[in-house]
Amino acid sequence: MGPRGDNGEGIDSWKEVTLTYNAALKMIETRMEILNDEFQHVHCYNPIEHIKARIKTPESIVKKLKRDGRESTIDNMVKYINDIAGIRIICSFTSDIYRIADMICEQKDIQVVAVKDYITFPKASGYKSYHMLVSVPIFLSDSVVDTKVEIQIRTIAMDFWASLEHKIYYKFEGNAPEYISRELRECAEMVSSLDEKMLSLNKAILDCLREQEELRISTKRNDRSHAQRMAMSGLS
Ligand code: GTP
Ligand code: MG
Repeated sequence: MGPRGDNGEGIDSWKEVTLTYNAALKMIETRMEILNDEFQHVHCYNPIEHIKARIKTPESIVKKLKRDGRESTIDNMVKYINDIAGIRIICSFTSDIYRIADMICEQKDIQVVAVKDYITFPKASGYKSYHMLVSVPIFLSDSVVDTKVEIQIRTIAMDFWASLEHKIYYKFEGNAPEYISRELRECAEMVSSLDEKMLSLNKAILDCLREQEELRISTKRNDRSHAQRMAMSGLS
């Protein structure tokens, strides 16, 4: 069963619907925090930098329904608007994005409805992000309501670009001059090379730390066997 529809109940029905969307956001957010804590414990590293969650405003919902030529009813909003509940997961490196997406897929009660990989296939604007539309069961006192949540997973650099690009485009209401769109695409390329550079730098740092650790262990082992040999020959 999906979130309950209008049934002519107006505001009460809207409140009930937002209650389930809020519950769905809380559930996903908590799951992500648990995965992040576990990752920290097992791998001594946090893939998630931070999480932002929001419920779409009634004004934006009505605007989107109108854009798509639909009547503003609660039934239509529940059925056709997939991003009423939205969560953005900001991580450190591009490789973390797929790691987090896989972890979400493995959660038994989270059903993945659709995936849009704008990292492998960036948008014409230069936009990069990994989108998942999921459905989660929300347990109410008398029913279980399957609720949709749009998850966007991106790096800090991708988030930086998307936030600024959104602000700039908003000013032009989507009609930005060509040279501005071109420069934004160039910025998106810089952001991508920054992400690549940071990823390879992180790999180099980890390799370097591993080598230092191996050297430390082998030096310690050599020192110990040297001391043992000296002791056996009575020269300690
Ligand atoms: P909408 O109906 O507009 O939500 O588009 P859609 O259902 O085709 O989804 P899509 O995956 O294209 O985009 C969903 C969300 O991704 C948007 O609401 C934005 O948050 C983000 N997004 C998509 N394209 C861009 C872009 O070019 N720039 C920025 N800044 N954000 C984008
Ligand atoms: Mg959207």
